[in-house]
Amino acid sequence: MGLPGHWGGLFVSGGSLANLTALAAARDHQLGGDLAGARLYCSTQAHPSVARAAHLLGLGRDQLVALEPDPEQRLDPRSLAAQVDADLAAGLRPFAVVATVGTTSTGAVDPVTDLARHCRRYGLWLHLDGAHGAAFALSARGHDMREALGQADSLTFDPHKWLFQPYETGCVLVRDPELLKATFRMARHHLDTGYLHPAEARHGEVNFDDLGPQQSRGLRALKVWLSLKTFGAAAFRRAVEHGLHLSDHAAARIAAHPGLELTSTPSLAILTFRCRPTDGSADPATVDRLQQSVSDAVRATGQALVLTTRVRNRTVLRMCTINPATTPADIDATLELVLQTALAR
Ligand SMILES: Cc1ncc(COP(=O)(O)O)c(C=O)c1O
Repeated sequence: MGLPGHWGGLFVSGGSLANLTALAAARDHQLGGDLAGARLYCSTQAHPSVARAAHLLGLGRDQLVALEPDPEQRLDPRSLAAQVDADLAAGLRPFAVVATVGTTSTGAVDPVTDLARHCRRYGLWLHLDGAHGAAFALSARGHDMREALGQADSLTFDPHKWLFQPYETGCVLVRDPELLKATFRMARHHLDTGYLHPAEARHGEVNFDDLGPQQSRGLRALKVWLSLKTFGAAAFRRAVEHGLHLSDHAAARIAAHPGLELTSTPSLAILTFRCRPTDGSADPATVDRLQQSVSDAVRATGQALVLTTRVRNRTVLRMCTINPATTPADIDATLELVLQTALAR
């Protein structure tokens, strides 16, 4: 993904643990053990695991500030700066920002370069939640994202999403891996009975126990390494491109059909759309209920999974097209099923 060679980290169970691990390092590095007045920022579109991480790290509800996104559902750097200025003026202690690279709802990518500039100016830690979207940087289309990723302090990346790995393959990467050690190294903690001293890393060895909250751990890297060796990196790049192509294909079909309406343009192989009610009803609650009932009925057929999400406070249908075995014909059949289901409502 083009990250500088000095970055490092470890495989963890998933994006949730990766977010928690990175934010624990951010908290300790930035706040020096005193959480009073601390403020962490994200948009309302950030994944709930960010809020859970904040809770586990001892931050109160008011210490995670979730800002309203811009119309494209991205964290707005100007609102962030305004909020940080206001919080500083109120004597609070802003310490970190979580930007999402591929929000779960719409695949929106927060403007990393602008946010990184603000974070440098205010001395804030920038964590990128790229659980879904960081894999985009592997593709030719995503090449520009590589530079953006390298501007962060830490990155969450989920190989069990867009790298097609079995579950329990998440990854946390940090610009300065020593900061993970500063938080997690066993010797830093109390209750050191002495029996673990032989496990202390020596002579430049890496002891993964020092880098995260887990001591005994499985060899998660083996899954990633084996599949990269078996299929080659090019196969992964092609598979990521394929997912992007499928979402473009779906969007073109949706835009061309009078019974359907795109509610967000495809971003990182995620798109949202809506069925237009056949009776022309414009009542928001009725239109929202239609999307939910179409989603439920399509799911019940067992043929496709088109779940709902909320975009700009409205219920919409959501497709995530990253399965490399999905074909354009599958997308067409799914949209046809959605349309037929809506007609029958
Ligand atoms: C943006 C984002 N962050 C974090 C997560 C949590 O990842 P995991 O389910 O691997 O813990 C997800 C999962 O959907 C996600 O989409």
